[in-house]
Amino acid sequence: MAAAAHVLVFPFPVQGHINCMLHFATALVGAGVHVTFLHTEHNLRRLGGRASASSPAGSPRLRFLSIPDGLPDDHRRSVADLLELYKSLAAEAMGPYRALLTPSPTTGSRAADVGVDPTGGFPPVTCLVADGLLPWAFHAAEELGVPAIAFRTASACSLLLFELGELPFPAGGDLDESVRGVPGMESLLRRRDLPSLCRRPNETDDVDPALRVLVKLSAHSGKARALILNTTASLEQSALAHIAPRMRDLFAVGPLHAMSPAASCSSLLREDDGCTAWLDCQADRSVVYASLGSLATISRDQFTELFSGLVAAGYPFLWVLRPDMVEASQDAALQEAARGAGGSKARIVAWAPQRDVLRHCAEGCFLTHAGWNSTLEAVVEGVPTVCWPFSADQQINSRFVGAVWRTGLDMKDVCNRAVVEKTVREAMESAEIRRSAQALAQQVRRDVAVGGSSATEFDRLVKFIKKLSTSSAVLGQ
Ligand code: UDX
Repeated sequence: MAAAAHVLVFPFPVQGHINCMLHFATALVGAGVHVTFLHTEHNLRRLGGRASASSPAGSPRLRFLSIPDGLPDDHRRSVADLLELYKSLAAEAMGPYRALLTPSPTTGSRAADVGVDPTGGFPPVTCLVADGLLPWAFHAAEELGVPAIAFRTASACSLLLFELGELPFPAGGDLDESVRGVPGMESLLRRRDLPSLCRRPNETDDVDPALRVLVKLSAHSGKARALILNTTASLEQSALAHIAPRMRDLFAVGPLHAMSPAASCSSLLREDDGCTAWLDCQADRSVVYASLGSLATISRDQFTELFSGLVAAGYPFLWVLRPDMVEASQDAALQEAARGAGGSKARIVAWAPQRDVLRHCAEGCFLTHAGWNSTLEAVVEGVPTVCWPFSADQQINSRFVGAVWRTGLDMKDVCNRAVVEKTVREAMESAEIRRSAQALAQQVRRDVAVGGSSATEFDRLVKFIKKLSTSSAVLGQ
C-alpha cells in the first residue's frame, strides 16, 4: 500500500551543502512531497526565524528539525575543523537521528521521540536523502527500514576523480602533465587542476587522510539506492555518462537553485541589505562582484594582492569579506581599512545576497573561488567569471570555466595583484567570454524548464521516491 511520501533531507552542516539541499527540499515540496529538513542545533539557532521564513509560502509540508553536532556553541567550525565536525557529528547525532527515523509506538510518527509535535500532520519518514559525506546516516536508515539516497553537492567530474587509482601523484612531478584516469577529460585535466590533497608533498609523506576519506566516500555513494547530483548534461555530459553505470541509479537534477526559485534564505550569516541599493546606482555591467564562498580563508598577503588588483582594475567592486576570512586579522579593522582604501568605488560587506547580486544588471563579472554553487549560480545568470580556486572541487570547477565552457578565466596558482588586475579586465571586456557565458546560460535554463533534461530527471526522481514510499519499500524489501 502506498504511504504519503515524506523525505528526510540531511545535509552536511556547512553553508554550501545546506544551500543546494534546501533548494532540492523546496523543489520536492513543490512536487507534493512532505520534507523534514535536518539542521544541526547550532545552525538552526544561527538561522533563527530565517529558517522557517525560507519555507515556501503556504506550504505546511516543509519543516525544520535539528540534532546536536557535539561541538561547543562557541566552536569556530571553520574550514580547518571540518574533520573534527565530521567525526563529532557522527558520534553525537546518532541517537537523536535514529529517533527521528523510528516510528513511535503510540503515534506512529517517526519524529515523536525528539519532542516534535506528533500531531503536526507529518507522516512517518519514508525515504532519506542524505549528503554523501554522511555514510553513517545511510547505514542507520537502511537498518531501520528507511531507503537511503545519496546526494553529492559537488560536480560530477570531481566525484569521478576519486576513483582514479592514480592518486596521490608522486612528489615533484610535472603539474602540467595530463590526468589520464578521468574518462572524457583526458585532454583537458592536468595535475594542477586537481585538489592539492591529490599531490604527495614529498617522497616520505603519507597520503593525506582527507584523500583517503574522500576516496572511501566516493565508493560508498554507489551503494545507496540512487545518487542525486546538482548538475546537468549540458555541463557535464561525459562525467555523467561515466558515473551512471557505477550507481544503482543516477539523477542529474541541477542547477537546483534554478529549479526551485521559491527557496529563500538559508544564509548562516546575515545578508547585507544595502547591496541592491548600491548596485542600483552603478552602470549596467560595470561592477566586479568578488566572493570566495563560505569557507575559504586567505592570508594577509593574499588579501593585499587581491584587494590591490581589484582597485587597480578600476571598476566599482562589491567584495564579500567574511568576518573569519583573513587569517590573523582584526576583522572589523580590516573591513574598515578596506572600505577606506577602496574609496567610493568599493563596497565591502560581510555577506551578500549572492544570487540577487549575480542577476543584477550592474553585474559585470564575478571573481570567485569556484565553489560548485557559486559556479552554477554564475552559469545560470550568464555572468563571466574569474576563478581563484582554493581547495576541494574548486580546482576542477575552475578548469571547466576556463577550458571547457570558456565562460571565464582560470587564475589558479598565480594570484598576485598584476594577475588579478589583468584577468578581471579581460573578463569584463571580452565579448567572446560574455557570448559563451550567455549561450551556456540559455542552454542550462532550457535544462531546468519543463521538458528539459534536469526537469525530466527531477520528475523521474519524484516518482522513484514515491515508489519507495510503498510499505514494502519502507521495510527495505
Ligand atoms: C564548498 C565547495 O567549494 C563546493 O564546491 C561544495 O560543493 C560545497 O562546499 P563553499 O565554499 O561554501 O562550498 O562555496 P559554494 O559552493 O560556492 O557555496 C557558497 C554559497 O554561499 C553559494 O550558494 C552562494 O550563493 C552563497 N553566498 C556566498 C552568499 O549567499 N553570500 C555570500 O556573500 C557568499
